[in-house]
Amino acid sequence: MIALIKAVHLATLAIWCAGLVALPVVMQIYGRASKVHTQAGFAEFRLLTHRAYTVVITPAAVVTITAGSLLFVLEGLRDPWMLAKLLTVVGMVLIHAWLGHLISLTGEGAGRYRIPPPMPALIGALTFMALTLWLVLAKPDLAPLAQQFPDWLLQPRGRELPSDLVPI
Ligand code: HEM
Repeated sequence: MIALIKAVHLATLAIWCAGLVALPVVMQIYGRASKVHTQAGFAEFRLLTHRAYTVVITPAAVVTITAGSLLFVLEGLRDPWMLAKLLTVVGMVLIHAWLGHLISLTGEGAGRYRIPPPMPALIGALTFMALTLWLVLAKPDLAPLAQQFPDWLLQPRGRELPSDLVPI
């Protein structure tokens, strides 16, 4: 079962990572080409980016994170490298959301859109992907680093929740 979930995790993360690389490149090269100023070119560009984002890349991201969360629970991994990996995945998710924002901007100006440059998203995506892969494949011992955290981050404080945060 774990092998199957890991296979799904790896297959979908390959699609997600490929999408995070391809989208900024397509937006930079295709989205700024003169062809995109024609109705047909604009429709083609919109269809390509919108469909790729909503039908392929976002579902792949959801399945990657779902399968990863299942592995996290089933394998009971709580090592510092795993927790650091969750942080780098948050970085990938933020880049993913930023790309979605850029794609929706291209659809709102009837071909006369001005979007922020997409290439910084490519640099961010490559950085977070490399960090994530390094953490999960090298499994570095981050325990000494975790020990540097202040005491209040390492020990339960044993305090009650403030009353306004208690739901019932
Ligand atoms: C919330 C998101 C994620 C969670 C909770 C998660 C969790 C996990 C867990 C628990 C494992 C099993 C580790 C082991 O058996 O040693 C795993 C494997 C793996 N994950 Fe993730 N993952 C997530 C996202 C990602 C992303 C975004 C990438 C790549 C960019 C990635 C790359 C990998 C790789 C390459 C493996 C196989 C490692 C091995 O078998 O040695 N994961 N993941």
